[in-house]
Amino acid sequence: MTMLSTGVLRVASRSCASSGRFTMKAGTAPFSPFSTSEFCNRVSGRLTEGRRYISVYGYTQAKALVYSKYGEPKDVLHLHKHSIPPPHGTKVNLRLLAAPLNPADINQIQGVYPSKPPFETTLGTGAPSAVAGNEGAFEVVSVGSGVKDLAKGDWVIMKRTGQGTWRTHAQLDESQLIKIEDKTGLTPLQISTVSVNPVTAYRMIKDFCDWDWLRSGEEWLIQNGANSGVGRAAIQLAHQWGLKTLNVIRERKTPEETNALKEDLYRLGATAVITESELLSREFRDMLKEFTRQGKEPIRLALNCVGGKNATALAKILAPNSHMVTYGAMSRQPVELPSGLLIFKNLVFDGFWVSRWGDKNPDAKKNTIKDVLDMTRSGKFQDIPVEEIKWTADTEGAELAAAAQETLSGFRSGKGIFKWESED
Ligand SMILES: NC(=O)c1ccc[n+]([C@@H]2O[C@H](COP(=O)([O-])OP(=O)(O)OC[C@H]3O[C@@H](n4cnc5c(N)ncnc54)[C@H](OP(=O)(O)O)[C@@H]3O)[C@@H](O)[C@H]2O)c1
Repeated sequence: MTMLSTGVLRVASRSCASSGRFTMKAGTAPFSPFSTSEFCNRVSGRLTEGRRYISVYGYTQAKALVYSKYGEPKDVLHLHKHSIPPPHGTKVNLRLLAAPLNPADINQIQGVYPSKPPFETTLGTGAPSAVAGNEGAFEVVSVGSGVKDLAKGDWVIMKRTGQGTWRTHAQLDESQLIKIEDKTGLTPLQISTVSVNPVTAYRMIKDFCDWDWLRSGEEWLIQNGANSGVGRAAIQLAHQWGLKTLNVIRERKTPEETNALKEDLYRLGATAVITESELLSREFRDMLKEFTRQGKEPIRLALNCVGGKNATALAKILAPNSHMVTYGAMSRQPVELPSGLLIFKNLVFDGFWVSRWGDKNPDAKKNTIKDVLDMTRSGKFQDIPVEEIKWTADTEGAELAAAAQETLSGFRSGKGIFKWESED
């Protein structure tokens, strides 16, 4: 017996011992529950192609972080073991490469996000549940006979949000996936984080301001949350498109740490980086004059993911007829606006939600993703800092849920990202 097949039997027997019944699906037939002993008889014995989690009948042992009620991730997320049948028709079997933990994922689990994946029993959970996570990169493991454009080894991302990405394996329909046409030179991290934050930054910069491209290098955008995934993407895209950026971050514990973060953003191409305290200080007007050559260079777009006083300060320095796009509410404070900004400066206040935009514009979404990945491949778009959370066959659900709980804690060194550590 090879090392690999020993591994298979060990994993299979542990999963058999720890759960009472399994739900499996064969061909197009509805899921049918197997008892533990029946299941164990089926999965043990000969194992295909050395894959540790795939039985002789092609059933994959999968785990998903699911929730069946809303609440804090640490309280409501649990790891659900289930099996995935071989794909049929247009179905595709996938294994996780990497999946980020975005603020919206947590809001969704808390039940305070407008889009809520339906609670279902499709995976054989005791109570109707949803798989957490919206973004992620997966590798195609096998495809049904009706699949046209995907093959084993391809990398894919989710076409829509709400499809559940915090899982080791999944079976989805080909129509639910976007194929990464050319993965050469790209990493799972880059692909798993491309479809939400970079796309949001890209569309907000392109679609809400009629930039005067003849004035390249003389027009500005201002943003808060500048060290976020979206903020970092906005800095880099604006830099490449000849726009200057004024970036607002929150102070760190020490001046050294604050300066290090500022330097980090300057390296990405930021024109100016200030702290929230500087933005709200009396001295800010003078700083601004210096940045914008005594106001000769207009600030024509504000990107707001914070709200509260911070957002009001951004709006106040916009040039007449400019736009402020609100796309997040990290401080949980409302956006308050002096009426004069609307009456006399004719400012326009918009909101942007990439999920809705992507659903309405699937082709544009695909092209935007391709554009960002091309920039990434050519070294023009840098990776975000991440805190990698390794997910192995032995990782406990509580460990993964605790990592999810950290997502909204603030002052983080990087975005949490689940990384599936297995060849299968
Ligand atoms: N509307 C859309 O389509 C869309 C798409 C993508 C993202 N978003 C939103 O954009 C925001 C950023 O997402 P992301 O994934 O880029 O974030 P991220 O990389 O996880 O970073 C979180 C950001 O939020 C800041 N932050 C956290 N708590 C804060 C607070 N109480 N007050 C002020 N700032 C706070 C952090 O600053 P510190 O480092 O100082 O803590 C950091 O800049 C989120 O609100 C997210 O929901 C919206």
